Amino acid sequence: MAFYFEEPSRTFSEFLLVPGYSSADCVPTNVSLKTPIVKFKKGEESAITMNIPLVSAIMQAVSDDNMGIALATEGGVSFIFGSQSIESEAAMVSRVKNHKAGFVISDSNISPDKTLQDILDLKEKTGHSTVAVTEDGTAHGKLLGIVTSRDYRVTRMSPDEKVADFMTPFEKLVTANKSTTLKEANNIIWDHKLNALPLVDENEHLVHMVFRKDYDSNKENKLELLDSSKRYVVGAGINTRDYEERVPALVEAGADILCIDSSEGYSEWQKRTLDYIRAEYGDTVKVGAGNVVDRDGFRYLADAGADFVKVGVGGGSICITREQKGIGRGQATALIDVAKARDEYFEETGIYIPICSDGGIVYDYHMTLALAMGADFIMLGRYFSRFDESPTNKVNLNGTYMKEYWGEGANRARNWQRYDLGGDKKLSFEEGVDSYVPYAGSLKDNVAISLSKVRSTMCNCGALNIPELQQKAKITLVSSTSIVEGGAHDVVVKDASNNLIK
Ligand code: IMP
Repeated sequence: MAFYFEEPSRTFSEFLLVPGYSSADCVPTNVSLKTPIVKFKKGEESAITMNIPLVSAIMQAVSDDNMGIALATEGGVSFIFGSQSIESEAAMVSRVKNHKAGFVISDSNISPDKTLQDILDLKEKTGHSTVAVTEDGTAHGKLLGIVTSRDYRVTRMSPDEKVADFMTPFEKLVTANKSTTLKEANNIIWDHKLNALPLVDENEHLVHMVFRKDYDSNKENKLELLDSSKRYVVGAGINTRDYEERVPALVEAGADILCIDSSEGYSEWQKRTLDYIRAEYGDTVKVGAGNVVDRDGFRYLADAGADFVKVGVGGGSICITREQKGIGRGQATALIDVAKARDEYFEETGIYIPICSDGGIVYDYHMTLALAMGADFIMLGRYFSRFDESPTNKVNLNGTYMKEYWGEGANRARNWQRYDLGGDKKLSFEEGVDSYVPYAGSLKDNVAISLSKVRSTMCNCGALNIPELQQKAKITLVSSTSIVEGGAHDVVVKDASNNLIK
């Protein structure tokens, strides 16, 4: 006879947190959101600890190198999408690893034989007014000069004038050696009242630019997540097919952590992938596995050697797996069950395997609920896809800005590895949709607001860190009428201009 779960399968929106006692020191500025991402033994620390409990989804529409840099700057980790060629995924990883905050690879470069018109065209394209003049017009060519808007007057000069004739030449520039630290570079910028400082190597080839305007923003990133060589931490998605080629390339590119990206994690394919990684790299390569939704799935991946386990089937915003296949489990129920299994495993073995709640976060308070229900960290797709840093197009639809967002199981992603169970190299039916999400601005601003809500709710529960929240949280189911009570009700809401909001 089939097995029946006793509890219905529930989602985050069916729960609320009940306030607990909060002492006077329980204020948001005292809250730490640090959290482990890979397994560790009792009494030891995780080899990678994030400063905020958020990771971005392994999706084409979400996690590229830009997202990787932006999220690591705030203290989280992006998992670069795996549904691309091995070379381009490794190149994205390496761009995150080689990005040095404040040190910019010049994107506006020109050779001296070009004209004022070319400078104007370049400015239009990049939006940047400082142009490096290099011998071959590349970002790392021999530096011959700089052009800024102070070097030309469009009204007084011919568009055909040669760059060499009006640039500020190398001899007159203040430059610094490529090994200059950010602090030193900023002192030079300050002393010489510069807007930009080129850093060059011993052959006068341009290496980086440091811009005055970036200094303040670089000083602010107290939570940025760096490895032992002060490079950003980044993750990368792998699949259960081409791991023998993909894993070495990603490791070589500097990925700090990998994750098997699959809609179904409770499978022999995942074990084979983990076995390969352990045989080749021992414990030096960190790798998460998933997705699972119950105790059995967790135990299987824990025993197979996963460094973390990802939870969730069918709860993603773009996901139609449950409709198409009738498979999955309400995200809250799945998480609560797997969190119990993780704690049980820890009791038995002394090994703590972090779990990641993947998908289905709609409101900011869902983040707090997921953490309270036992998630060590949370993976989000839709949330991050709305920001400037996501790789997709921003489009204006009837006056509203939207970003594109599509599932890895939509035909558009062509990600057959994620859904394939050993069959054809094509999707026989879709498990995801192609969609728009409302554009929401910068990652930094949005993450700051979301996490300030999380910290504030944690204080209401009397918790100053995530483990404390998991211990102290009191969680209640809500009835459908009490959900209505939770929003503005029985009033007619108006906006700042006193117009009624329909
Ligand atoms: P979201 O944060 O609710 O948008 O969910 C993102 C998660 O949905 C991802 O991390 C994946 O686990 C999952 N996902 C991504 N693409 C698809 C798809 O096409 N079908 C089903 N699930 C998907």
